[in-house]
Amino acid sequence: MPDTQRQDRHWSRAAARYDDLFLDPFRPGVENPLLDALQAVPDPGSKTVADLGCGTGPLLPHLVGRFGRVIALDFAPGMITKAKKRLDTSDLAQKTTFLVRPMHELDDLAGRLDVAVAVNSIVMPDVRDIDRTLRAIRASLKPGGLFLGILPAMDAIHYHTMLLNDEALDRGLDVEDAERHAAFQGEHHFYEFAFGRFAFQGLRQKFWQPFEAEHRFAKAGFHQIELTKVLYPWDDTITGGPTFADYPRSWDWSFRAIASE
Ligand SMILES: C[S@@+](CC[C@H](N)C(=O)[O-])C[C@H]1O[C@@H](n2cnc3c(N)ncnc32)[C@H](O)[C@@H]1O
Repeated sequence: MPDTQRQDRHWSRAAARYDDLFLDPFRPGVENPLLDALQAVPDPGSKTVADLGCGTGPLLPHLVGRFGRVIALDFAPGMITKAKKRLDTSDLAQKTTFLVRPMHELDDLAGRLDVAVAVNSIVMPDVRDIDRTLRAIRASLKPGGLFLGILPAMDAIHYHTMLLNDEALDRGLDVEDAERHAAFQGEHHFYEFAFGRFAFQGLRQKFWQPFEAEHRFAKAGFHQIELTKVLYPWDDTITGGPTFADYPRSWDWSFRAIASE
């Protein structure tokens, strides 16, 4: 079975306990530049936006009612079912087109999107899938169209590892024990550091270095690529979080890029 197909099943299964497994980048206390970037889109009522890899749909209430047309796409049927339910309470669901398919299948949308958004969803474990997905997104955007989103940060895992290691050394552990402690607390057994991947309960996800985002986005035909940190509070959702309150916060990468002509 192709990897894409296997992954959609795993993601569909994850939909049921999504809030237990994943941190919400829109929760209170997170400094997230994405909503401001969406607010800054001029004349949204005349525009079409697509939420690519919409998951359970946390971004949809921010898009529906503001943009003229909203497309919510995810290859996991379980995610789309939950996203539809999120909008059920109003007539908002009717204003949204839901598509169950992989993100590289966008031929029917070629040149039709004004804005594409992908929040923690450009995470295909095979970089060839990432490259073809980025090319498809660029082709789905009108020339000059805006691509916004968030990428899970690999460098933030290294940062957390450094803090965990230092904290253990400060407590008097020797180098070997401190590194073992940092690797355990930082859950290194789930990561492939060299290639930037995270594997957990059947899900395999790409984690990004900022230079890789610049490289792959440019290769797919985007320009004016800007990366900004989404900053997370040092709370209990991060191992050892409150201990690190005096240090700069951990992050994911928020991006903004323009589709070339
Ligand atoms: C970590 S979740 C993020 C969901 C949502 N954007 C959010 O912020 O809560 C990743 C989502 O991307 C979807 N996804 C991953 N790879 C995909 C692909 N190749 N095509 C379509 N959806 C994909 C998954 O099904 C999942 O819903």
